[in-house]
Amino acid sequence: MTFLQLLYRSIPRTPDFDPSDLAILRASLRNNAARGITGYLWRANGQFFQALHGPAEAIEALFARLEADPRHRDLEILLKEPAEDASPFPDWSMGYDHFLALELDAELDENGARRPIAAEEARQIYARMVAAAEEVRRYGSAFPYARGAGEDEAAYLARLDASA
Ligand SMILES: Cc1cc2nc3c(=O)[nH]c(=O)nc-3n(C[C@H](O)[C@H](O)[C@H](O)COP(=O)(O)O)c2cc1C
Repeated sequence: MTFLQLLYRSIPRTPDFDPSDLAILRASLRNNAARGITGYLWRANGQFFQALHGPAEAIEALFARLEADPRHRDLEILLKEPAEDASPFPDWSMGYDHFLALELDAELDENGARRPIAAEEARQIYARMVAAAEEVRRYGSAFPYARGAGEDEAAYLARLDASA
């Protein structure tokens, strides 16, 4: 089976901290776990960055659904390449956190435009998301809808379900 890693960015149609992200996360955790997909989603000041890893067919099917999802627009694939079978996001059917776009030097400009990001830089962003996922797995994140300290994925999903 071929595995892919994919990184894309998009523009949310909802504001940061919007409760609609809860529905995204609950669907993602359930669907991805069933399909062998893992990954991480960042809300970064008016942008989404999402890293995905999984079987190529499952990733392609998910990306087709993502492109049709009205909760964001202008999806741009920054990286899509074959990956090792083992996920760099073990224990993350889907993670979620907030991040400052300026830390990536990837803010929107005054016209809402995005500067180009080439594959090598996209690989570095992917690696940063992998590191962030590991940090949050260990220590938790205090941001709304993110996983808390010591919370495993089952407890996380149960908490998200309870707050929906
Ligand atoms: C930024 C963003 C990220 C998403 N990530 C995922 C994901 O990782 N997995 C997933 O199944 N759906 C994800 N979704 C939701 C899908 O677009 C779609 O609504 C969902 O897969 C439909 O699942 P359902 O038929 O179980 O409701 C995401 C949506 C957005 C806007």
